Amino acid sequence: MCGIVGYIGRRNGADIVLSGLSALEYRGYDSAGIALLDETGEATLLKQLGRVAGLQKLIDETTLQKTPLAIGHTRWATHGKPSVVNAHPHSNADQTIFVVHNGIIENYVELREWLGKEGYHFASETDTETIPHLIDYYYKKTSNFEEAFVSAIKEIRGAYAILACSTMAPDKLFAARLSSPMVIGVNKDECIVASDPSAILQHTKEVVYVQDNEMAVIEKGSYRLVDLAHDKQVQRETEHLDFDINQANLGDFPHFMLKEIFEAPQTIRLASLGRSNASTGTVKLGGLESVADQLRYIDRIVIVACGTSYYAGLVGEYLLEEITGIPVEVQLASEFKYRNEPFSRSTALLAISQSGETADTIAALQKVQDYGVLRLGIVNAVGSTIARMTDAGVYCHAGPEQAVASTKAFIAQVVVLLLISLKLSKNGDNLYQPLLEEIEALPGKAQQILDQAPAIERIAKKYKKYRDFLFIGRGYSFPCALEGALKLKEVSYIHAEGYAAGEMKHGPLAMIDKDFPTFALATSGPLLEKTCSNIQEIKARGGVVVAVATEGDKLVAKHADDVIYIPKSLEQTEPILEAIVMQLFSYYVATAKDLDVDRPRNLAKSVTVE
Ligand code: G6P
Repeated sequence: MCGIVGYIGRRNGADIVLSGLSALEYRGYDSAGIALLDETGEATLLKQLGRVAGLQKLIDETTLQKTPLAIGHTRWATHGKPSVVNAHPHSNADQTIFVVHNGIIENYVELREWLGKEGYHFASETDTETIPHLIDYYYKKTSNFEEAFVSAIKEIRGAYAILACSTMAPDKLFAARLSSPMVIGVNKDECIVASDPSAILQHTKEVVYVQDNEMAVIEKGSYRLVDLAHDKQVQRETEHLDFDINQANLGDFPHFMLKEIFEAPQTIRLASLGRSNASTGTVKLGGLESVADQLRYIDRIVIVACGTSYYAGLVGEYLLEEITGIPVEVQLASEFKYRNEPFSRSTALLAISQSGETADTIAALQKVQDYGVLRLGIVNAVGSTIARMTDAGVYCHAGPEQAVASTKAFIAQVVVLLLISLKLSKNGDNLYQPLLEEIEALPGKAQQILDQAPAIERIAKKYKKYRDFLFIGRGYSFPCALEGALKLKEVSYIHAEGYAAGEMKHGPLAMIDKDFPTFALATSGPLLEKTCSNIQEIKARGGVVVAVATEGDKLVAKHADDVIYIPKSLEQTEPILEAIVMQLFSYYVATAKDLDVDRPRNLAKSVTVE
């Protein structure tokens, strides 16, 4: 979704902001813009539809030399269609105040009406444009830019990360945040501000996070934080971000999605490294140690998440319930936050999020803030909002995920859910030791699947022509089938639905014909024969079936049109291996259709608005 980058220092702000915006491109956007102040404090505003690269051309067409201050933005349209006029930065009428914004200003309609009566005119359809006009309004009263900025921020309601600059205060950047991330990278003589640390890390790893209800006044190499609720200064030192910037590069892969799928073995290793040990029979999760006492009294777990993280949560439900005996419920964060349900103090809320910035998941955590319940997190992005607002949690350690469709994060989330299940099982479960051993075998098995990528590509090409797809599975493979359907629709735009195989007769069978193929998860286990019956029922109605089966199985191939084999694993860990197959399948269908697989249309990597 929207991305913000700002620079103030001695170097050329335009270059740094553009490279920062490029680092955020993976989040998905439709337009981009930049406001630049040159050494004399003169302002230039440039905006356009499409890619960040186009902004460089616009800058080259100007006579600008050096720009020690710049703010830039990539926009993913919410209020108003993608267009140059709706793109950020937005400005006041005489182009002396510039604002970029992520999030939503909920009271923008009333603010527009009020400002309209005060003689302000609006060029765009956006909620953001109210902000520079509001600042302008207060500046005209006080002639103090910082005071005007604070007064404007206090007027707005909603969720936001705002970065502003002005020709009236050409040596400062002004930032404010509420429920939308904002981080300042600090170097000697310069600061880089962004909505995501990946835009900063190539310049510095010393960062400070702006917190909710705070504003920051940023100068060359220094910053001042103010708690707006209490109008007092906040002292917060920078922290060092432990992040390998090389992980964010494409290497020899044509797309991030393929690169990230191929990182599966490493992802499993990193998620379990130093945490599980089969030879000593131990599971150690440092992130949960501080709440170990509270965890003993938990008698219900509610998992909240969105998208792929939600499906990982559904796999987690099966794992946690079977291994720990604790009842688990998985809810879509967007539903959870508006539901009225009983919630006791012995319930733990577990938020799962790759980015740690998903607005609905944040809102779910906020909802239980005053319930006195334990809030846990499974998060990939270190230092993200969700990671910081939970009482305790376990990081996925999957490294940055750039393709919009989540792949390696799903794998890491399921591994972490498995580790948490084992940790909470108190070693009594007879699955404990076999699962610990299987975790160590999984990277090798994941690699064996990746080695079959050319064969999976051949099969995927056969299926690119279809418009619909059904994904079915039973037991642990059921939530995995739901994730498989999501993956295919996200990247290939083929309509895909996930179903419990046992539900076929209750509806989906009506849709089956030669044009409606099925992807069946039919790995060996107690339910295999039942799934094979479902496959036969589909075949009997003229359906086409691609199946995932276990190596050595002879049954599935008798019925399915195409079979992809995975190494034998345990039922509980099979979702990890099946997911890799479906990720590769979806990737190859999408690339065979020549689609932008890393940035599917209309989607964003990090959904920071409701
Ligand atoms: C977006 C992304 C998905 C992701 C979902 C939840 O829709 O495109 O890949 O699964 O958000 O994101 P989170 O960062 O909370 O896991």
